[in-house]
Order: sequence, then C-alpha cells, then structure tokens
Amino acid sequence: MKKYHVITFGCQMNGHDSEKMHGILDQMGYEETPHMEEADLLLINTCCVRETAENKVYGLLGQLRKIKDKKPQMIIGVGGCMTQVEETARHIKRRYPYVNLVFGTGSLHRLPGLIAGAASGRETLVDQCRPEGIIEGIPAKRQSGLKAWVPVIYGCDNFCTYCIVPHVRGRERSRRPGDVLEEIKDLADRGYREVTLLGQNVNSYGRDLGGGYGFADLLKDADRIEGLYRIRFMTSHPRDFTANLIDMIKDTVKVCEHFHIPVQSGSNRILRAMNRGYDRDYYLRLVERIRQQIPGAAITSDIMVGFPGETEEDFQDTMDIVERVRFDAAFTFVYNRRKGTPADRMPGHLPDEEKSRRIEALIRRQNEISLEKNIEEAGRVHQVLIEGVSKTNPDLVGGRTRTNKLVFLPGREEDTGKMVYVKIVGGTLTYLEGEVLGGGKCPCV
Ligand code: SAH
Ligand code: SF4
Ligand code: F3S
Repeated sequence: MKKYHVITFGCQMNGHDSEKMHGILDQMGYEETPHMEEADLLLINTCCVRETAENKVYGLLGQLRKIKDKKPQMIIGVGGCMTQVEETARHIKRRYPYVNLVFGTGSLHRLPGLIAGAASGRETLVDQCRPEGIIEGIPAKRQSGLKAWVPVIYGCDNFCTYCIVPHVRGRERSRRPGDVLEEIKDLADRGYREVTLLGQNVNSYGRDLGGGYGFADLLKDADRIEGLYRIRFMTSHPRDFTANLIDMIKDTVKVCEHFHIPVQSGSNRILRAMNRGYDRDYYLRLVERIRQQIPGAAITSDIMVGFPGETEEDFQDTMDIVERVRFDAAFTFVYNRRKGTPADRMPGHLPDEEKSRRIEALIRRQNEISLEKNIEEAGRVHQVLIEGVSKTNPDLVGGRTRTNKLVFLPGREEDTGKMVYVKIVGGTLTYLEGEVLGGGKCPCV
C-alpha cells in the first residue's frame, strides 16, 4: 500500500482542507504514515497570511531536496493559499524543480487526477483553478472523534487592506443550510459532541444565497440537533455581529459563550485605513452588549500593530482598547507587507524596531490581563468536555470550558468524551486547574 503524509500550515480553514486531503487519499487507497520520510506522497498545505508562514514552507522545501535525492520516486505536492498566488506557484516550480505538483485552494477536488498526472509527468504540474463555487461530498478524515470543524462559508469579500485572504480564497460562497445541517447531524450521530462552524466571516453567512436565511437561523437550527453538546463558530467580523444575532445566541443552549471578534486596532484612523467598517466606539458597544446579554462570555481577539502610518497615538489607542475590553486572550500580529494588497502601497511603513517595541508592549500587557482573568476564575464552576489525557502529566485530563478555556483536572483516558462540572482551583496564563464536582450528560440533551 502506498503511504502519504500531509503537513499543514495556517488557519482552521486550511486545517479542514487538510482533513479533506486525508479523506481523498484514503479513498484513493493510500495509507497515512506519521513519518514524512516514509511517504510515497507528501502534501504540504500552505498559508500566506504573513511572510513567516511562507518562510516556513520554503525552509521545508529546501530540506526536502535531500529526502527526494534519496527517494526520487516520492511525489511532493504543494497546495493551499500560498500556491494560489500565480507568482509564488511559478517561483516554486523554478526554484524547487523536484516538487511534482503545485495546486491552489480551488483545486482540492481535482486532487486524484492531479496526483496521477504529477506521477506520470516529468515536469512540475501546476494547477490553479479559481476558487469558485462549492463542491459538496469531498470526504473528510477528521483529527478528532469528538470535535469537528464544519465550514459554512468559503472565501471573503471584506478586502481589509492588509489582507491576502480574499485574493487566495475567492469570493464569499455559503454552503446550503441543508448541506451544513445534514453534515452536523451525521457528525452527532457518529458521536461527535462539538462542532465549530468555520468561515473567514461567519456573520455574512447566507447573504449570497438570497432568501433571507442567515447565520442566526443556521445557529438556531443547529441548536436543535440531537446528540450534539456544543456549537462554536469563528471568525466573526465585528461589523456584521448584529444585536439580533446576540439575542438569538442568548436563547440557544448549545452555542457556547465564546466570541472571537478581531478588533485589529483601537485607532479610528487606522481602522478606516484598514477598511474594517467600524470604529472603536462601535466595537466597545458591541462588547458591552455581549457582556450584558450573555454574562460570563469570553471575548478574544486578533490585534495588529505597525500598520502603515500607525503613529504612537494610534498605538496607544490600541493599548487603550485592550485595557477597556480586557480580552480573555488575543492573537497579536505585527503588520506584514503582502504583495497585491492596498496597504502594501500605502506610505508610512514602520521600521522593524518600532514594530517590535509595540508588539512587545502589547503582548506584555495582554498577557498580564489574560493571567489576571484566569486567576479570577478560581472558585467558579464550569462545564468541561474532556478531550483526553494531558501530554505532560498522565494523571491529568484536559478539556475546555464553554468559554473555550483549557482546563486540566485529575482523570483518566476513559474519561475522554465525558461532560463534567468542574470547580476551578487555579489559573495560569494559558490554562485553568480544576476539580470534578459531578459528571453526567450535558444538561442540554
Ligand atoms: N477572517 C479572519 C482571519 C483572517 S487571518 C478575520 O477576519 O479575522 C487572521 C489574522 O491575521 C487577522 O485577523 C489579522 O489580524 C492577521 N493578519 C492578516 N493579514 C495580515 C498581515 N498582512 N500582517 C499581519 N497580520 C495579518
Ligand atoms: Fe482578511 Fe479581513 Fe477577510 Fe478577515 S475579514 S479574511 S482580515 S479580508
Ligand atoms: Fe493562511 Fe489561507 Fe488561512 S492564507 S490564514 S491558511 S485562509
């Protein structure tokens, strides 16, 4: 049996595309190997959101030359967001001629034919279908038997001026509600307990379908699916997070109290230059409404520093919004130039040292806040879905609260999949410590 190995970079959407690659390869009769060197077919699923992500791929491609020298029959395929950019695809073909196949995000469904073509061809095969339409029915082999990603909308129409994603993932395309709900039902029937609905901007779900069925309707319908304990979703665009959606979430049982709403910046001037479509007051009001309607909700964010033209005052506005909101956690980014995006052509790019100073100050303060918030959790009771034994301590199991905080508690392998009530006894920057109060089924089923 031929063996395959898939290496994945990037966000959950790419993670799920890799699950589909696994599904397709299994169906083709390949067998997975955990060792890259053993593979007859190696697929690399790339990300181009920042240069660091790309450099990791180039580093890996450099290393592969040696492996390929020893094993010339190995087929190497590079796919994903990076290779959807024509120039990058050409560069890989020229610079790494031992790569057999280069394919973009729109070519996933064509993989079986492409692999056959690459195996028989002498040159690198390049395939760049435009990411359009939706192909249902591609099998996905999921990483977990408990939690699953379910894409609801592909692509992005927002064109934030710094971002490459709309250029490599195409326009927004919503899956039909029936297809999404069927997939979730099937997952619940097979023992999955948690789904995360995925999209670059889940809040615009349904808009392209016409007919008035939106994300709030989808959540409401998913909430009724038997056997499912939890529904999560990401990412939300603050501009499209309506009051109606908050009210609706309040009335569901399974939709978890965690909201990942990237703010990006706290400066109105920078938010405008980023084309984000909201200002700081709007964002602060949104957070206030969520906290009012859904007490105990966790709010996390993506925050960027060093956008072209960002002054010290703009940066202080970002620090100020961090102070006011007190995010439970945040992914922090240094602005990175992406070719073909409007921000790349804007004046006022900042020197690296200044960007480093700002990101360090931001991370330091956000870490203090995250730690304080986790320490404040002591004494509270959370519902935790146990996901498995801790990698570092065999006497502990790990799981997540509905607010998406990682908790470690005494337990054993057999506890995996159980929903338990846990009293929090301590908190660190990245996880909570707890003790089981009682077990049983999720009260919502
Ligand atoms: N669709 C999601 C995620 C997009 S990519 C959203 O809109 O939030 C994840 C994060 O990467 C973004 O939120 C942004 O903070 C960051 N990012 C995107 N482009 C970037 C760039 N050119 N430089 C630095 N960070 C970037
Ligand atoms: Fe990029 Fe903005 Fe779309 Fe997110 S919403 S993927 S940051 S363009
Ligand atoms: Fe990266 Fe593509 Fe996701 S660029 S962040 S893998 S959509």
